Amino acid sequence: MVDNMYIKSVLLENFRNYEKQEICLNENINVIYGNNAQGKTNVIEAIFLCAYGKSFRAKKDSELINFNSDNSKVEVSYTKIDRDGQIRAEINDKKTFFVNGVKQNKISDIIGKINVVIFTPDDIEIIKDGPQKRRRFLDMMISSLRPNYLHLLNSYNKILDQRNNYLRQIKLENKNPAMLDIWDEQLSEYSFKIYEYRKYFIDKISNSIEDIHSLITKSGKEEIKIKYISNSKDKNSFLENLKKSRVVDIKRGFTATGIHRDDFMIYIDNRPVSIFGSQGQQRTSILTLKLCELKIVKDEIGDSPILLLDDYMSELDEKRRKSFLENIKGNQVIITCTDRIELENENSIYYVENGICKKV
Ligand SMILES: Nc1ncnc2c1ncn2[C@@H]1O[C@H](COP(=O)(O)OP(=O)(O)OP(=O)(O)O)[C@@H](O)[C@H]1O
Ligand SMILES: [Mg+2]
Repeated sequence: MVDNMYIKSVLLENFRNYEKQEICLNENINVIYGNNAQGKTNVIEAIFLCAYGKSFRAKKDSELINFNSDNSKVEVSYTKIDRDGQIRAEINDKKTFFVNGVKQNKISDIIGKINVVIFTPDDIEIIKDGPQKRRRFLDMMISSLRPNYLHLLNSYNKILDQRNNYLRQIKLENKNPAMLDIWDEQLSEYSFKIYEYRKYFIDKISNSIEDIHSLITKSGKEEIKIKYISNSKDKNSFLENLKKSRVVDIKRGFTATGIHRDDFMIYIDNRPVSIFGSQGQQRTSILTLKLCELKIVKDEIGDSPILLLDDYMSELDEKRRKSFLENIKGNQVIITCTDRIELENENSIYYVENGICKKV
């Protein structure tokens, strides 16, 4: 018997290169294969949209609408332990979500209806690129579990924009710098709340990172650690830092300190893996980190999230693939690949060509 949440079907209408397509999925492993540029990732993107309220790759929602149309629709029908449900996204000049046919006022209202964890080859950027990618990873995970967090982040960013605007007005129009006090007070209030969420989830990762890492490396030889990096730990120090950097901020026209600059680091044997890690160590670390995410989501929601693996299996060597598969038993998995892969579990296979997805 299946008791994890899973997606029963996805309906695409004028979404990317699909005109009208329904894809029925099974509760175990679903493999979607086909040549490049045929529409595999577009399916993953549509599901992601209904889970997180936005695409993981489009800058603008209008990119999602088929070139020959002016509106687009995605409908995801799912089953959970206690109930069935349906999420619909409608995109025209704006984006609207419906849950079981009922229009939702805020995007955050759909978050958490279905939980998905995505694995893509680009995940490695979380380790290799700058702090922005790491904050995004953390923020996405927390938002999917705590809708209030998204609200805090949005409020913070709005106030940050206002402060930055005012900084430029002080410089160019000689406005009164004392007015910054209001924004500084609000920013440090939100900073502290956001910091607490992030710290809580980094601690959760920290609690499982060693076990998962030794499972993947099949040895306990390496010591792996994760650390959240912030220059403040409480509301007062957030406020003090803003005050301290005020003169510099005015000169530069932007806010140089705050949680929008925070970061986290992964260390192997006490050295940052982004700097000193070998290619293999970096790949293992990101797999470890994503599996920590999977574990946390599972613990938090008390159910197995849906896994989206976009072009991911080809990324893994034999050893990593094996430990990965051990970790994903009991989840619905949707895999895209260019070469059809055969996996043990019961699975459905789909072939995609030029915006048509057929079960084979
Ligand atoms: N708004 C749109 N309308 C119509 N077609 C689009 C739109 N946006 C993207 N496409 C097309 O969708 C096609 C498939 O994209 P997708 O990313 O799903 O490919 P894929 O099968 O995952 O390929 P790859 O194996 O290279 O990752 C591309 O050819 C792209 O030009
Ligand atoms: Mg693709």
